[in-house]
Amino acid sequence: MYEQRDAIDPTTWFDSVDLATLRARGGAKWSKYGPDVLAAWVADMDFPPAPPVRAAIDAVLERGQLGYPWLLEHDPVAHGFADWAARRYGWTIDPSLVISTIDVLQPLQALIQLHSEPGDGVVLQTPIYPPFHTAITGAGRVIVENRLTAPADGAAMDLEGLAAVTDARTRIVLLCNPHNPTGRVFTRTELQGLADLAVERNWLVISDEIHADLIYPGTTHIPFASLGPEVAARTVTLSASTKTFNIAGLRLAVAVFGSAELLARYQTIPRFLLGGANIMGVEASAAAWRDGEAWLEALVAYLHANRDRVVEAVAAMPGVHTVAPEATYLAWLDCRELLARTGEPSAFELFLRGGVALNDGADFGTVGEGFVRLNFATSRSVLDAVLERMAQACPS
Ligand SMILES: Cc1ncc(COP(=O)(O)O)c(C=O)c1O
Repeated sequence: MYEQRDAIDPTTWFDSVDLATLRARGGAKWSKYGPDVLAAWVADMDFPPAPPVRAAIDAVLERGQLGYPWLLEHDPVAHGFADWAARRYGWTIDPSLVISTIDVLQPLQALIQLHSEPGDGVVLQTPIYPPFHTAITGAGRVIVENRLTAPADGAAMDLEGLAAVTDARTRIVLLCNPHNPTGRVFTRTELQGLADLAVERNWLVISDEIHADLIYPGTTHIPFASLGPEVAARTVTLSASTKTFNIAGLRLAVAVFGSAELLARYQTIPRFLLGGANIMGVEASAAAWRDGEAWLEALVAYLHANRDRVVEAVAAMPGVHTVAPEATYLAWLDCRELLARTGEPSAFELFLRGGVALNDGADFGTVGEGFVRLNFATSRSVLDAVLERMAQACPS
């Protein structure tokens, strides 16, 4: 059982991450681009598991309980998330409307297929997380693109544009809040505007709120379904502990249904298509939501300082611009001026040649061409090495 007194000094904890450890660790982030490249791409953090998460996993092994979990009488995931949502976001949810899923993308895909027909439209507010695009097109649905306003203005929602671009075949909105890749935390006014349209036009809203815990001072996360009963009744919220606590490999997320009808419809999907929860994910998530707040506060403070370091370093890179993200450990860098000046075709390739792997903005929609996404969830020393290489890769 984790005790608060076991907690490690956060500065030592986060600062302790070094390149030798990361390269030895394995995993997609540090394997894909080989030993000479610094990895600042996929949305995994470089930090080791938080003490309560580590303790929960150790406890499962000590008990030797790696068989089927028994979750029917008291589901620690549903209750753990409901308690967390009440404490962190002031959002009251009924645990009986929360189910465990193997990740966020699986229910997202299932919901698209359940609530639309081939050829129907699904709204994306672009640029947006690449798997959203493939989840729609892979199911034979049509992306209805609604671009956020220019990042220099902070990438706001364009609700007039949304009203104009949708039609009778538009069925679903995939909302990402906080938003990946721009790091926006949408305001109540923006969310209410979207909700008004969804109610008026009878859309289902799939609200991916996986980044909700990683927000910086000055903003507040407003769960979309908390806007009112009429909004909740057409919303399925997807969330997880896996971004917040850096345990995506444990494969666990939650779907919160805004009404019993929405849940009942989901349960018409043949059960074995959906899979079941992994015991390590269940125990780690429950422990994170129960005991992880102190570690999370320290993490956000550390990421906040990293964010400011990124903004300062990018300001000195000629032709690269960014707006400080309000949430997430992802910075969205506009390199179009750099590309125009140098004649380089791709910022992603330019930085990769300079020894840093980022995400190519073009993967987030055509509006992302000329951008890259930088993951700054690492130690100061690794981040400084990344920023140094990027600065050297930018011709002046
Ligand atoms: C917005 C968003 N949704 C979903 C995911 C993936 O979550 P999962 O691995 O639980 O499917 C990510 C991962 O980066 C993400 O940024």
